[in-house]
Amino acid sequence: MSKLGTSITQFITEQQRTYAGSTAEMTSLLSDIVSACKQISHLVNRTGIMGLGGYAESENIQGEVQKKLDIITNDVMVDHLNWTGHFAAMASEEIEEIIQIPDDQPKGQYLIAFDPLDGSSNIDINLSVGTIFSILRCPEGITEPTVKDFMQKGTEQVCAGFCVYGPSTMMILTTGSGVNGFTLDSHVGEFILTHPNMTIPEDTAEFAINMSNYRFWEQPMQRYIDECIEGVDGSREKNFNMRWVASMVAEVYRVLTRGGIFIYPIDNKASTQGGKLRLMYEANPMSFIVEQAGGLSSTGRERIMEIQPEGVHQRVPVILGSKNEVERVISYHKS
Ligand code: AHG
Ligand code: MN
Ligand code: MN
Repeated sequence: MSKLGTSITQFITEQQRTYAGSTAEMTSLLSDIVSACKQISHLVNRTGIMGLGGYAESENIQGEVQKKLDIITNDVMVDHLNWTGHFAAMASEEIEEIIQIPDDQPKGQYLIAFDPLDGSSNIDINLSVGTIFSILRCPEGITEPTVKDFMQKGTEQVCAGFCVYGPSTMMILTTGSGVNGFTLDSHVGEFILTHPNMTIPEDTAEFAINMSNYRFWEQPMQRYIDECIEGVDGSREKNFNMRWVASMVAEVYRVLTRGGIFIYPIDNKASTQGGKLRLMYEANPMSFIVEQAGGLSSTGRERIMEIQPEGVHQRVPVILGSKNEVERVISYHKS
C-alpha cells in the first residue's frame, strides 16, 4: 500500500500490480503526461521572465482569443505525447480537428482529450492555472480514429487527471479506484503523494459561481443561489461563503480538499452553445474525479458522465461537488 511521500512513479506502478485491468502501458502513458505537466509547470512559473504572457494574435475554435501560453502549452502536450506509441489520436481545446499521430510514429490503444491550460485568463495576474486530461480507449480495430471514435460517454474514461500550477504544482489522478493528490517537489523533479484518498464532504456551506451572470440563469439556479445568500434568515437557516477563481482546476481542487459546490450553469447568453465548459476535456474528467471522491456531478438534468457526446468541443452546464448540495440543485431542476 502506498504511503505518504511515495513518488508518483512508484504509486502508479504499485497500483498497476494491485488492480486487474491496470497495465504497464497505462503506467508508462501516465508518466508521459506527468513529464508534459512538469514542463508546463516550469513554463507557467517563468511566464514573466521568458516574456510568455499576454495574447497571441489567433482565436481558437471556441472563438476565444488565445493567450500565448495556450498555444505553447498545447504544443508541449502534443510534442510530449505524439511519439510515445500510447495514443491513436488526441483532441485539444486549442485545435479544431482531432490531432493525428505523425505517420512515422507508432499508434497506440488510447485516445486523449485535454485542456492544456485551464483558467488562462489568470495567467497575467499570477493566479492558479492548470492542465486537464481524459483518457479513453480507442475502439478496437480502429487505426485511423475520427471524431466519432472520441464520442464516448464519460463513464467510459479509463483515467482522468488534472494538474494545478498554484503555490505548489499538484497532480490529481484517478484511474477509477479513488482519487490521489501529488505535489511536485521541484528540487528532485518528482511528484510526491501528499493527499491520498481524497474525499469530498457530503455537506458544505461554500458555493462557487460567476455571480455576474445571475440575470441570465434559469429559475432553479437563481432559486438555489438566492437561498444560499439569504443565509440564516432564509429557508436554509445557515450562512454560506462564496469563492470564484475563474480557474476550474483551482475550484475543483478546493472542492476536493474542503468540500463545496462549483457551478457553471447554462444561461440565456450561452444557451445555443449548451453552456460554457467543454464536456470532453473539462466536464467529463472533472466529473470522474469528483464522483471517485464521493461527490456528484450533473447538468441539473442528467449525470454529466452519461451524456452521449456529439462533438469534441461540445459545451455543457456543470454542477459538481458535495453530494447533498448537488442533489438539492438537481431537485430544484425537477420541480
Ligand atoms: P479556459 O481558460 O480553458 O478557456 O477555461 C476557463 C473556464 C474555467 O476554468 C473557469 O471555471 C471558467 O472558464 C471561468 O469563466 P468566467 O471567465 O466566465 O468566469
Ligand atoms: Mn478550461
Ligand atoms: Mn484552456
